[in-house]
Amino acid sequence: MKTTVTNNPKIAAAFIKAGEIAAFPTETVYGLGADAYNEKAVKKIFKAKGRPVDNPLIVHIANKKDINVLAQEITPSAKKIISKFFPGPVTVILKKNEIIPPATTAGLDTIAIRMPAGRLAQQLIKAAGVPIAAPSANLSGSPSPTNFLHVLRDFNNKIPCLLIGPPAKYGLESTVIDCTGKNPVILRPGSVTLEQIKKLDKNAVIQKKGGKIKSPGQKYKHYSPKADVRIINVKREMSNVKRNEAFIGLDRNLGKGFEKVLICRSMNDYARKLFSFFRECDDEGIKTIWCQKVAEKGIGAAIMNRLNKAIH
Ligand code: TXA
Ligand code: MG
Repeated sequence: MKTTVTNNPKIAAAFIKAGEIAAFPTETVYGLGADAYNEKAVKKIFKAKGRPVDNPLIVHIANKKDINVLAQEITPSAKKIISKFFPGPVTVILKKNEIIPPATTAGLDTIAIRMPAGRLAQQLIKAAGVPIAAPSANLSGSPSPTNFLHVLRDFNNKIPCLLIGPPAKYGLESTVIDCTGKNPVILRPGSVTLEQIKKLDKNAVIQKKGGKIKSPGQKYKHYSPKADVRIINVKREMSNVKRNEAFIGLDRNLGKGFEKVLICRSMNDYARKLFSFFRECDDEGIKTIWCQKVAEKGIGAAIMNRLNKAIH
């Protein structure tokens, strides 16, 4: 099939309304969307990505009022997060209403809801007139796409439509927060940090490693380039330039001696560029990518989460 590439959200919305899938930009990463109410359309997303059917999708809305339609109840912890961070790079998990077909939530009785801040994403959802179920627009297992070229790389002529926009502002997927219980539990760290959520709810926590997996996506290997990913903390002794080895991080000294080097200006910059660096390294035949370890504070928790997933 030929992919219609457009910068007009109305054109992409027509595909969604017709029960087709369309990729679109958000401020976190690009998504691959379908009408969240249309089971057949949602199944096309799983097929295109090669995504395991037990991995539920996030439902994207353009109006906070839609949460009442999708969820049974907006818990007190969800209320605070929604009023502070919607629209933005945050997803809340709530008990779902019947209206959502099981394919969208992978049979779970909960639903993940996000209101993206990106202008094009909002225009698309409004024009489609339905909530849009969307995972990241990458082939299952590869790094999330942070610009439209990444989407084309994975899906050119394999999806009917791509809405193009600017590169992702954050470059990492949203913070996923389980709000079904008394206290918020972060299932996937993102650019909205634990520290920020704690200001709303001091009992908020990040789900412990090895705990019962509540977010099915977290059990899969993710975000991984073809190259080996390694975490680097202290300078390695290197006698000569390491061919086919790359470095990404904050410390210029650590990066000395690698064939390809990306020194980031800040932690946010590191987060924004990580996935795109993974893809570039693969395109250039890099065999090993050394990523600088950072403290698991603030956005550092999200960076380390993605790095650890890229390794295992
Ligand atoms: O920033 C983002 O979140 C991007 C953009 C497109 O919005 N989307 C995204 O979707 O990253 P995806 O499918 O790649 O990741 C969604 C994560 C998965 O780990 C999935 O298991 C989890 O959210 N999830 C979805 N529904 C859930 C639910 N009902 N309960 C627990 N986890 C859920
Ligand atoms: Mg994904």
